[in-house]
Amino acid sequence: MTCKVVVLLSGRGSNFRAIAEAQLPIDIVAVISNRPQAAGLEYARSRGIPAVALDHTAHPDRVLFDAMLGDEIERHRPDLVVLAGYMRILSPAFIARFEGRLLNIHPSLLPMFPGLKTHERALEEGVKIHGCTVHFVTADLDHGPIVIQAAVPVRADDTPDSLAARVLAQEHRIYPQAIRWFAEGRLVNSHGRVNLKDDSTSQSVLSPGT
Ligand code: GRF
Repeated sequence: MTCKVVVLLSGRGSNFRAIAEAQLPIDIVAVISNRPQAAGLEYARSRGIPAVALDHTAHPDRVLFDAMLGDEIERHRPDLVVLAGYMRILSPAFIARFEGRLLNIHPSLLPMFPGLKTHERALEEGVKIHGCTVHFVTADLDHGPIVIQAAVPVRADDTPDSLAARVLAQEHRIYPQAIRWFAEGRLVNSHGRVNLKDDSTSQSVLSPGT
């Protein structure tokens, strides 16, 4: 049976686009945004994918909002929920409800630089390698079991924007890959570590950068 996926996003939705265009063995059954103006919703509509806006500003109570969001997601009966630039912290109850079928992409090599402004912080620290991580979401913010990571070089003349662009190109490679593995039932999660059933494939991507 095809893996049914619900995507949550808040903004431009370039990761969603990369996923939708990757010809994965999945059915994207809905895209949901907490921001009605999110460009990602427009793109979903253009592809005939059900696009749902649930405006969080109309529901100030996070727990209630997340319960409503969870109900909306369940309506689509997904096997997997993909956070693709969903810019709100999720309540513990929501995470418990979807744990094991909730993936996120984070623009750093976790556990380095959890939270926001990752590219600025990487430059401030003077790291020479930066990147992105796809991980299962747990209650521990940006610390769930890692599925795949991609590394890029940091250049002397990088700005947060140039570094973000280099990392984003890799996000668009590794998120579809992670989702494909999930859909194929190849991800084995044991004791907080995710391995692949066929371990000849690498879960790291080392990019020479552009
Ligand atoms: C990406 O950098 C992702 O890693 C982070 O939010 C950003 C979303 O970008 N979680 P987009 O909306 O997918 O273009």
